[in-house]
Amino acid sequence: RGRDQLVVAVDGPSGSGKSSVSKEVARRFGLAYLDTGAMYRALTWWCLDRGVDLADAAAVADAARELPLDQGTDPDRESVLVAGTDVGEEIRGARVTESVSAVATNPAARAALVARQQEVIARSGRRIVAEGRDITTVVAPDAHARILLTADERARMARRGLQNGGTPDAEQLHQQVVGRDAKDSTIVNFTEAADGVVTIDSSDLTVEQTVQAVIDVVVRAAGRP
Ligand code: DC
Repeated sequence: RGRDQLVVAVDGPSGSGKSSVSKEVARRFGLAYLDTGAMYRALTWWCLDRGVDLADAAAVADAARELPLDQGTDPDRESVLVAGTDVGEEIRGARVTESVSAVATNPAARAALVARQQEVIARSGRRIVAEGRDITTVVAPDAHARILLTADERARMARRGLQNGGTPDAEQLHQQVVGRDAKDSTIVNFTEAADGVVTIDSSDLTVEQTVQAVIDVVVRAAGRP
């Protein structure tokens, strides 16, 4: 652990506020930012674009190894390019979101993406906030600060609803949030904190309060302002 290194690992379910909080923490400490979920989404987009059968585990694993991905790490300017195509918008769309679990449950594809994520962390000079589902446990278990950001179902549904522009169909929203959690939880255990991981429950916190809570953990862990 070099003096200027500062790796912050943040895991949590969708709707926990993970992305906005991680980006803001990166800005405050002047760190790079890695959204690993975007990597799984980019791979899913690439498979769909090339007509790769998502049920064909070997083909998806090949695609993961070959994925021509160029992902930025500036928290103020997210950029995700696949073979030169800007997929930033499309990877958030329903088509990718509905299929991403099929890709994320592929162990060989995960191994390929985890290796890339570890490369990104190394290339940052180990000055980065990385967020996802398995950062504290698999990608960067040696991070200086390791945080599990949680939120109860009510809070996560409310946030998801806001992101969708206030979906009127509460039942549909519930299915989306709970359904995706159920799929995601078969991939990695991100609902319980591993040893040495600090849990922050953001259910009743604003984004700024959550950012402060994360900063407190980072300062305590790394002993820097
Ligand atoms: O965080 P997100 O919603 O963008 O994640 C997209 C999908 O990728 C989701 O199904 C969980 C999966 N994922 C994962 O398995 N491991 C990660 N480190 C990040 C995301």
